Amino acid sequence: MGTALRRPGSADRLDQRAAGKRRRDDAALRSELERLRNAHLYRARRVLDGPQGVRPVIDGRRVLSFCSNDYLGLAAHPALADALREGAGRYGVGSGAAHLITGHGQAHHRLEEDLAAFVGRPRALLFSTGYMANLGVISALCERGEALYADRLNHASLNDGALLAGVRLRRYPHADTAALERMRAGGDAAMLISDGVFSMDGDLAPVPDLASIAETAGARLLVDDAHGLGVIGRAGRGSLDFYRSRGWHDDGSVIVMGTLGKAFGTFGAFVAASEPVIETLIQRARSYIYTTALPPALAHATSAALTLAQREDWRREHLRGLIARLRAGAADLGLPLMASQTPIQPLLAGDAETALAWSRSLEDQGVLVTAIRPPTVPKGAARLRITLSAAHTEQDVDRLLELLRSLPGAGHEPAASAAGLPGPRRGGGA
Ligand SMILES: Cc1ncc(COP(=O)(O)O)c(C=O)c1O
Repeated sequence: MGTALRRPGSADRLDQRAAGKRRRDDAALRSELERLRNAHLYRARRVLDGPQGVRPVIDGRRVLSFCSNDYLGLAAHPALADALREGAGRYGVGSGAAHLITGHGQAHHRLEEDLAAFVGRPRALLFSTGYMANLGVISALCERGEALYADRLNHASLNDGALLAGVRLRRYPHADTAALERMRAGGDAAMLISDGVFSMDGDLAPVPDLASIAETAGARLLVDDAHGLGVIGRAGRGSLDFYRSRGWHDDGSVIVMGTLGKAFGTFGAFVAASEPVIETLIQRARSYIYTTALPPALAHATSAALTLAQREDWRREHLRGLIARLRAGAADLGLPLMASQTPIQPLLAGDAETALAWSRSLEDQGVLVTAIRPPTVPKGAARLRITLSAAHTEQDVDRLLELLRSLPGAGHEPAASAAGLPGPRRGGGA
């Protein structure tokens, strides 16, 4: 049996539809928006003035920010801006066509080769976004009705890819490979999919175990390493390399998806895999075929980002120091940071209202940490998603700790329990 995934408010909509009285006027939309507001689930955008960074000007005010995915601090790096300008001079602005028409240029091709070498796969294929890459790879490699096993806390784009592909989506409890084996037990499986580093929890997937289950099942394993690449593994080669460096034998069969708009500071995504997998994506992935190629200047800038990210190991070392400082400080304060060794350091709040109140209190004091609420995380697991960047200083982390100390109801746990960590990891649904 597949798991039904519902969008926010979809239960209400389904009820209305079943009763045959779904209204399609703006008043109905307004009342649904009001419902979201009352449930503390309303989302609003902020306007950033100037570049992304740890001290952005947002809604007219400079804040200390702990919520971007610019983990290495490259999004506004002058060398990348120079490369983007150089690329625009060389290739112009728009790609003007899809890759399979005349949109695939030298800059794209070179970046694909660089990315393949970086993650240790024979080939890589650029996609315009990670969302599109996940839709493309799942629907190109799975047939309708086949079984697909997915970690319950996977990113929404992986779930959407499964829905689009019409597979039987079976979601196993977070990182629980024993439960996965029980669920599969002798049945067919076309694919296993998992985040490499979980986007809202920051913990690592058990890639070696997943790879061996996939092999036994004759299934493919897709690892979405949006939050691992650039950050963990040797020279930032990601989750697979983290395990390779600890003795795991990578036989090359795992399909790697990576995004370029996070640690690498630019935009876009790629899938890296064997030659036949990549050729199949070129022939069959509709989110690759039917869309305009990335601007080539962006690909040019991303090649520069990749070089910088690999070369400047100090960024990862500094990050590791900041992570350790935050975790040690939080443990002293009895704050329930979740079990993560990556720059994603969530502080569990529980209900959406508390998470929002914490976020607002920090913002009032000039520190920005977004509240993450359902449906992005399971109900009851709303949190502050604190993210660290190599552009932060130790003083920035100390300032954050100083403010976290005074959050109502945030601390009070004995320091020792912070390592065992309560939280949504075991049990919640996305
Ligand atoms: C784990 C994960 N996969 C995929 C994506 C989508 O990537 P993109 O932003 O490039 O569409 C994101 C976030 O955006 C993510 O966190």
